Amino acid sequence: MGWVVTIDGPAASGKSTVSRELAKRLGWHWVSTGAFYRGLAYVALQKKIPFDDIPKIIELCYSKEWSVEMTDSKTKVLFQGNDVSELIGREDVGNYASLISHHSEIRKALLDGQRSCSMGNVGLIAEGRDCGTIVFPQAQAKIYLTAHETHRAARRAAEEGQAHESILAAQKNRDEQDSNRKTAPLQVPESAYVLDTTHMSLDDVVKKVEFFVREKIPV
Ligand code: DC
Repeated sequence: MGWVVTIDGPAASGKSTVSRELAKRLGWHWVSTGAFYRGLAYVALQKKIPFDDIPKIIELCYSKEWSVEMTDSKTKVLFQGNDVSELIGREDVGNYASLISHHSEIRKALLDGQRSCSMGNVGLIAEGRDCGTIVFPQAQAKIYLTAHETHRAARRAAEEGQAHESILAAQKNRDEQDSNRKTAPLQVPESAYVLDTTHMSLDDVVKKVEFFVREKIPV
């Protein structure tokens, strides 16, 4: 396995934006592990599978109808040959993903695909909820990004042009589900660099994270 850096944190903490930028600066790959859960959720919603029909959802994990690909700009989800990466960003898809992601069989089924993103000698930035704890516990550098919840909701509301209150309520709900589940809950990995980005610009966040990574890894 090549170098791996993990970035975990709650919803809308800037993990994808920071990962993408850091990958660009290091010349590495990056992957949003949330895209695996969101992709599965999107396909299940398209097929009108209720979120508690776990056997059907597990079966769907292995379906060839959908796949996940890393690109420089995004973690791409393909469904029946179409790029649905924009559609998986919807909050209903995120909430369905959060609701099904506490099932250990589902997590296990998606794990190989996430781990296979670390290949050859190109480094990988992996972001999500359990990247530093479960997916890549051996990662050479671990980061935990967070920010005040109203700040995170404001960022997402601005990005999506939606009302702050409804985004905040959905986000609180999802953070609670992701943090309190028994299997692979969102938590700060041991030895992680914790960064509260509430009052920081994106550029400052990336600079700090890059500095931390370069201290740990000779890149
Ligand atoms: O990071 P995100 O918002 O795209 O993730 C969507 C949901 O997927 C999240 O609320 C919980 C689940 N998820 C997970 O359980 N483990 C991960 N490593 C990434 C995401």
